[in-house]
Amino acid sequence: MPDQFPIAVFVSGSGSNLQALIDVADAPFTIVCVVSDNENARGLVRAASSGIPTSVVAWGDHPNRESFTDAVCAVAEVAGARALVLAGFMRILAPSAIARFPNAILNVHPSLLPAFPGVNAVEQALDDGIGITGVTVHFVDEQVDHGPIVAQEPVPILASDTPESLHMRIQEAEHRLLPHVVGAFARGEITVDNEVVAWRRDGTDRIAGVAI
Ligand code: GRF
Repeated sequence: MPDQFPIAVFVSGSGSNLQALIDVADAPFTIVCVVSDNENARGLVRAASSGIPTSVVAWGDHPNRESFTDAVCAVAEVAGARALVLAGFMRILAPSAIARFPNAILNVHPSLLPAFPGVNAVEQALDDGIGITGVTVHFVDEQVDHGPIVAQEPVPILASDTPESLHMRIQEAEHRLLPHVVGAFARGEITVDNEVVAWRRDGTDRIAGVAI
């Protein structure tokens, strides 16, 4: 497809969200590279199987977060990426990444932010005894799991849920929501102005919060 919007996807582990992006039919975006801090990430195998160039940037090879951030951003830029998608990427990027990709770094997080940022979001929701959690896709800012929210999808918590069963249903939602958002972003339908996200479809503007 001509004029596909070039993105880089950053992964640290399984890469099931990466796979969901790879599997989009007639995608308005193209994955120009997959970058991982973990040489054993299954996401790298998924990328290679689909002919997508991969790079490993080891955290331990860098003296600090800034240096690591420069390295991963440089890989994405050299590959021609105009946006970064953090899909299970377990490293926090330095603010310089935001300067290099302004309003163009998306993250998927397994909770309804601002509830349960950080690691173990699924366990935190379960431990909290609430009845609903979900998925958030948001633009990345300087804080962890924070930034303008683009879309959220709720996932009910069942009395019988274990962290594993709940995470499985959350991932099903992630695999719908992330490709939906990345596709809309690639088509230019999502913009951020003053921290407020707007979706534009069919010539009409609407504020996003819960979308899809
Ligand atoms: C996802 O649940 C994502 O929300 C979280 O890490 C997990 C990554 O899963 N940030 P995968 O590697 O895409 O399978």
